Amino acid sequence: MIIGNGSPWAHEKRSPAGGDNLCLASLVALNPDTGEYVWHYQQTPGDNWDFTSTQPMILADLKIGCEARKLILHAPKNGFFFVVDRKTGEFISAKNVVDVNWASGYDAKGRPIETAIARVADRPREIIPSAHGPRNWQSMSFNPQTGLVYMPVQNVPVPLLDNKDWKFNAEGRFIACDARNGKKRWEAPTGTGVIAAPSTYLVDGIVQGVPYNKDHVAEGIALCVSNCVFCHGVPGVDRGGNIPNLGYSSQAVVSNLEQYMFGALARNGMPDFMGKLQPADVDKLKAFIQGTADAVRPKEGAGTGRPGGRPLGWPPPSLGAAAQLPAAAPVDPNPS
Ligand code: HEC
Repeated sequence: MIIGNGSPWAHEKRSPAGGDNLCLASLVALNPDTGEYVWHYQQTPGDNWDFTSTQPMILADLKIGCEARKLILHAPKNGFFFVVDRKTGEFISAKNVVDVNWASGYDAKGRPIETAIARVADRPREIIPSAHGPRNWQSMSFNPQTGLVYMPVQNVPVPLLDNKDWKFNAEGRFIACDARNGKKRWEAPTGTGVIAAPSTYLVDGIVQGVPYNKDHVAEGIALCVSNCVFCHGVPGVDRGGNIPNLGYSSQAVVSNLEQYMFGALARNGMPDFMGKLQPADVDKLKAFIQGTADAVRPKEGAGTGRPGGRPLGWPPPSLGAAAQLPAAAPVDPNPS
């Protein structure tokens, strides 16, 4: 029986003296009759980035060189795709499937070659992939006829940042990897990207959209990633959960963002950012959120991030009674 596991991710807090943390962020083989340990392979020694190894595994029988091998194919959150011998735990290969900057690859023994920035603590850095993971619980599949593995991935950096020209790249991609050597064979965009082209549009002669300064978008991304995405998700990407995705929040909400950020919803579990963020930050956040909303709303209709609910404060006084929303479509609370 083989299980993958994770760990709370602040390595320094977990292990102030350092060390790999034996068997954490690892594949671990146990004898199901006795519970006895058989082998383990640690994918992320001394994990500091929430790179869990709990993602689904595929068991495949393949030839490596001339030898028939019983394998595990696995793509955990750390951005690499692994081929491991499932009888012995021997590492065979690891190749990255998304952009990765914490490790440049794996050595022949299966240990990651960490980059210089991987554990920098004295200044802000962006680590890719993020704690969201390029992959998570979503299944992947293997076709023995093509020898390819198919998996959905996303590219989202983590907010350890101080870099004005990093690219926010929360795009969804579908990637096929060669199961024998992990090489990327092809990839396709899934159409759920949030790299929004700022735009406005007219419905019945009324301009839709909250005006914003395009130059603010890049900084808005950084602020949103650092302060908002952990609860609200990436705007316009994941819609689920009880906390609204701001990419689908109404214009009334976006144009009054400061009220929401500075205390109005504190009773409902939304933090009060008073003293932590400035009014200028609100404009930057607005630019990013509205840029995303412009990209997603025309497809969705004038949406609300509240599952099944009406946006707060709609219609905004500036648009008046003419700007009524179509009735909100019922949202299945347990989408399949
Ligand atoms: C700790 C979690 C958390 C964080 C972090 C957080 N929020 Fe919220 N936010 C919430 C919750 C919970 C609600 C829903 C409250 C409710 O249902 O009334 C909410 C609601 C909102 C709403 C209303 C959305 C709507 O469509 O009704 C806005 C706008 C908002 N938050 C903006 C932000 C911004 C901007 C940031 C980052 C600067 C942020 N939030 C960070 C938890 C959070």
